Parts: sequence; structure tokens; C-alpha cells
Amino acid sequence: MSEIRYAGRNTIEVNGPIVEHIPVLAGTLTEQITLPPDGVMVDATIGQGGHSYLFGKTLGPEGVLIGLDANKEAVRRAQFKLKDLACKVILIHCNFSHIAEQVHKQGIEKVDFILADLGVSSVQLSDVEMGLSFLEDAPLDMRFDKRLKTTAADIINNTDEKALADLIYKFGQDRGSRRIARFIAQQRKSEPITTTGQLANIVCRALGRPGRKRRTRIHPATRTFQALRIAVNNELENLEKLLVSASDIVKRNGYIAVVSFHSLEDRLVKNNFKQNEKGGIYRLITKKPIVPGRDEIAENRRARSAKLRIAQKQ
Ligand SMILES: C[S@@+](CC[C@H](N)C(=O)[O-])C[C@H]1O[C@@H](n2cnc3c(N)ncnc32)[C@H](O)[C@@H]1O
Repeated sequence: MSEIRYAGRNTIEVNGPIVEHIPVLAGTLTEQITLPPDGVMVDATIGQGGHSYLFGKTLGPEGVLIGLDANKEAVRRAQFKLKDLACKVILIHCNFSHIAEQVHKQGIEKVDFILADLGVSSVQLSDVEMGLSFLEDAPLDMRFDKRLKTTAADIINNTDEKALADLIYKFGQDRGSRRIARFIAQQRKSEPITTTGQLANIVCRALGRPGRKRRTRIHPATRTFQALRIAVNNELENLEKLLVSASDIVKRNGYIAVVSFHSLEDRLVKNNFKQNEKGGIYRLITKKPIVPGRDEIAENRRARSAKLRIAQKQ
């Protein structure tokens, strides 16, 4: 288990360095969405509890905040962050694809607000045990939930070259996918690829580009790592399940808000919201996605690719 120490309100020390997680588009979300004091909110991606803390503060003792996260460590961190809220806080280590059954298990039929802030938190990116970052040499894992059987290393070492190229192309949209897969297949003949550093080096060699030199340049391995993370955690399928359940369990006049970080996620959200709008189920609060302004991006680099869509149940 990683060593976690709380170094301040939004700041956590994970295995050494201090990591801050700033909730993305938090100001916009709290401006757009007001909960009744006795409201029920489900934060489908509780993470470090940043967004939940802001909304939770607006709930009274009759209010309920249900937080889900596929990552057990995240649930533990959020517990700490949310411990002083006046409302009832229920935190559950589970995938958000099970949102409906988890809400119903609490004896709650419908909720006022569902928030999903997708992807990973800054703390998780810096947690070497999660094996998500190419900037640290760590075991090639990438599972949000350690109960999953397949790691990124399993996929990299056991998937045939063509299927691997397809995966990197489909989930990473990397035009160098065939070359990357060829280099991986070649390399794993001599030894298994088991660390993030090994994989990042192979991708850099395949693309003929050095690793990240400047903070502003995107690292050549970014897309391959994204593809693997999506595959390991079955991210797109789980998001689709969440979106389908959300339209059932949000109350009339209640809200669903999704913050996504790449076009594959955003497309699913956009299509689901549009379809529900056509069916008279949703009213779109955001016709176009809301993106963070320059100031927010300057303060929080993770925000740079964020897109927020909000719908209201009719
Ligand atoms: C960007 S962070 C959320 C940060 C949070 N909004 C905050 O302000 O602290 C995303 C979280 O979603 C979790 N997650 C990703 N996919 C999930 C899924 N399918 N089910 C449940 N949790 C998921 C990750 O483990 C991570 O903790």
C-alpha cells in the first residue's frame, strides 16, 4: 500500500513528493448546479473528494452524499477529506457502472445530481504503485481497481502485434500505432516488458523522438499509455453503462454533469446527452462543452483537456 500523508487541504504526500489535486471546473460546476439542503448527490468518481467537498458543504444534515470510486486508495483519501461534512456521507469502493444498484442498496430511488469527473487524479498519476506515469519507472500495472485480473503488462506481453496496434490506434488515436506495436513485439522476444520506463523508452524509439524535454511538449508515450489505461480499466464500456443508468436514477429537474479528458469519452457523453434530449428526457444545459479558461489551465495543467457537459432531467 502506498504511503499517504495529509499535508494540507488539497495536498497529499504519496510515496514522497507532495501532490496537489485541484478539482477541475469546480467554480463553473458550483455556479451551474445548486442542490437543495436535503438533496442527494452521487459523485461517481470521488477521487480525492475535491468536488464532493464543495457540493457537500451546501448540503444540510438531511442531505446525502454518495461517493464511488474503483480505486480503494481514493475512497480512503476521500473519507479523510469529507469527514467533517454535515450531510450523510456514504463512500463505496466500486465501479460506477454499478451506480444504480449501489444507490438502490441505500434505499434511495432517485438522486438530485450525478457528477463524473473521469480519468485519474494527480495523486494517482504520481503514485508509482498504480503504474500510470511514464515519468517514473514503475511496474506496468494501470489498474484503478486491484481486483481486476489483467494489468497493462499482461496486455503488452500477451497481445499479438496486430491486435496491439489496433488497440493503440483505437484508444490512443496514435498514428504511429503499427510501428509502436512492432517495436514492442520485437523487444518482448528478448525479455518481458514489465515497467512503465521500459515501455516509454520503446515508444520513444519507435517514434524516433526523445522523451519529454519541456513541460509544454506532450510526451511521445502519452497516447500509448492512454490506450492501455482505457483497455485495462474498460473505461469506455463502463462510461456507457454509467450514462445509461444516470438517465434512470436522476430525479426530474436533477442534473448529470460529466468532465471528460479526451475525445473518445466526450463523444460518448455528447451522443448520450443528445439522444436523451431528442427523447425529451434531458434538457442540455451546455449546448457546447465548457472548457477551462487560461487562468485555470495555468494553475492546473490537468485541466487543459477537460470538457464539461451538463444535462437536466425533464
Ligand atoms: C479525476 S479523479 C476525480 C477527482 C475528484 N473529482 C476530486 O475532485 O477529487 C477520477 C477518479 O475516478 C476514478 N474512476 C475512474 N474510472 C472509474 C470507474 N469506472 N468507476 C469508479 N471510479 C472510477 C479514479 O480512480 C479516480 O479516483
